Amino acid sequence: VAGDEKELRAPICCILGHVDAGKTKLLDCIRGTNVQGREAGGITQQIGATYLPAENIRDRTSLKAETAIKVPGLLVIDTPGHESFSKMRSRGLSMCDIAVVVVDITKGLEKQTVESLHLLRCHNVSFIVALNKVDRLYGWKECTNAPIVEALKKQSDDVKSEYKWRLTKVVTEFKENGFNTAPYYENNKKKKVVNIVPTSAESGEGVPDLLLLLVRWLPDIITDKLAYDDTIECTVLEVNEHKDLGTTVDVVLINGVLRQGDQVIVCTKQGAYKHHKEVRAAQGVKIVARGLQYAMAGTSLIVVKPGDDLRQAEAAAMQEIDMAISTTDENEKGTTTQEVSSIMTCKEGIYVQASSVGTLEAIIAHLKSSSVDIPVYDWNLGPVYKQDVMKASAMLKRKEEYAVILAFDVKVMPEASALAAESGLKIITADTVYRLVNIYTEHIKGLKE
Ligand code: GTP
Ligand code: NA
Ligand code: MG
Repeated sequence: VAGDEKELRAPICCILGHVDAGKTKLLDCIRGTNVQGREAGGITQQIGATYLPAENIRDRTSLKAETAIKVPGLLVIDTPGHESFSKMRSRGLSMCDIAVVVVDITKGLEKQTVESLHLLRCHNVSFIVALNKVDRLYGWKECTNAPIVEALKKQSDDVKSEYKWRLTKVVTEFKENGFNTAPYYENNKKKKVVNIVPTSAESGEGVPDLLLLLVRWLPDIITDKLAYDDTIECTVLEVNEHKDLGTTVDVVLINGVLRQGDQVIVCTKQGAYKHHKEVRAAQGVKIVARGLQYAMAGTSLIVVKPGDDLRQAEAAAMQEIDMAISTTDENEKGTTTQEVSSIMTCKEGIYVQASSVGTLEAIIAHLKSSSVDIPVYDWNLGPVYKQDVMKASAMLKRKEEYAVILAFDVKVMPEASALAAESGLKIITADTVYRLVNIYTEHIKGLKE
C-alpha cells in the first residue's frame, strides 16, 4: 500500500427496489451476463453475491489507467423485489456498506421502494438511486454505454422535457419520504443530498456513472467502514439444498481472509457445528459440508485459527444462537439487526418444502399474507422423500384441504410421488413462489366445489 493510505476492502453493495425496476438487468448490464433472461417468470427468487474486480469496473468507465481505484473491487448483492421476500432483502441489507436503490423512471417510487428506504434508514446505510429505464422515454436516442450527461445532450427537446418532469416527480416523491435527492451531475452537497444516476440497463447509458460513483466517491465517504482488518467477519447469506452438492451455505466474507483448511463453526438450530473444510479466500463463498442443513441464515460464520481457543469460539456461536432464537419476528418492523429464520408452524396446515431457507421464508410469508392466510404444519429443505409424504399425510385425517406438499425448486423422489398418489396426498410444484400458492388455492376451490 502506497504512502500512509489505509488499505481498504471491497465495499458490499446491496441492490434494492420494487419488482421489475431492473435490478437484475442492471447487474447483467454491468457483468455482461443474462441472468434476468433465464429467471422463472422474470422474477428474482434468491439472494446472490457477485464480485466485480476493480479492473473490470475500470473497463466500463472512462477512468484512465493511471487513476487509482482505492478499493480492490465491489461485492454486489442482488435482492428480489417481490413483497414476500422481505426477509431476504433485510438480510442482504444488514451486511452491506452501501446500496443502490433502483427506481423505474416511468413508474416512480413504488411499494417496495418505500420499504427499502425504510430499511436503509433503520440500518443507516448510504445509497445511490439508479433512475432506470431512461431508454423508455418516448423517442429516446440510444447511446450505448455512454455517460448520462453525454447521452442527455443528444436527446430531442421533447425527450429532455419528459426526462425533466419525470425526474422532478421522483425527487418530490423522495422528499415525501424524507430524503433530499438530486441528479448527481448537479449535486454539490453529495454528503447530504442523495445522488440520482439516470441509467438504462438495456443500452447502458449512465452505467459508467453509477460505477464511478460506487468506486470513486463512496469509498471516500465511508473510508472508516472499509478499513481492511485481519479479523474475520463473515455472515451466512443463504442455506441451500443444492441438487448435486447437497447442503451448501453461501457466506459473505465481510473482512479478513478465509484460507484452505480453515476450521469453521456455523450456528445451527441444534448448536454449533464445526468441520474441517477447504474454504478458498474470496468474498462470496459457497461452503459444502455435511450437517449444514441446520445452519441459520443471517448468523456468523466463525473461523478458528490454529492457536485459537476452540471452546471460546463455540461459546460465542452458542451465544449468537440464543440471541437469534430469542429475536424472532420483530425484524418485520426493521427494529432489530439480527435476521434469522424462525418459522412458525401449527397443528393443522400444509407442508412446505424448498431449496433454500430464503425461499422457504418467502413462501411462508406469502402464505401468511392477508390475501391468502394459509397455516403451515411443517417444512423441510431439499428433495421430497417418502418421510415427508408420511409426515404431511397426517392431515388426511385431520383436515383434507391441508393434505398437500408445496414443493419449490426441489426434486420429488419417485417413491414419494408413488406414496402420495396411493394415499391421496397432493404434491404441488411450480417454478415461482406465487404460482405455487396459486395452484394450491385453485386446488382448494376445486375441493370445495
Ligand atoms: P425482481 O427481481 O423481480 O424484483 O425484478 P428486477 O428489479 O430484478 O427487474 P428485472 O431486471 O427482472 O427487469 C424487469 C423487466 O424490465 C425485464 O423485462 C427487463 O428486461 C426490463 N428492464 C430492466 N431494465 C430496463 C431498462 O433499463 N430499459 C428497458 N427498456 N427495460 C428494462
Ligand atoms: Na423482474
Ligand atoms: Mg431481479
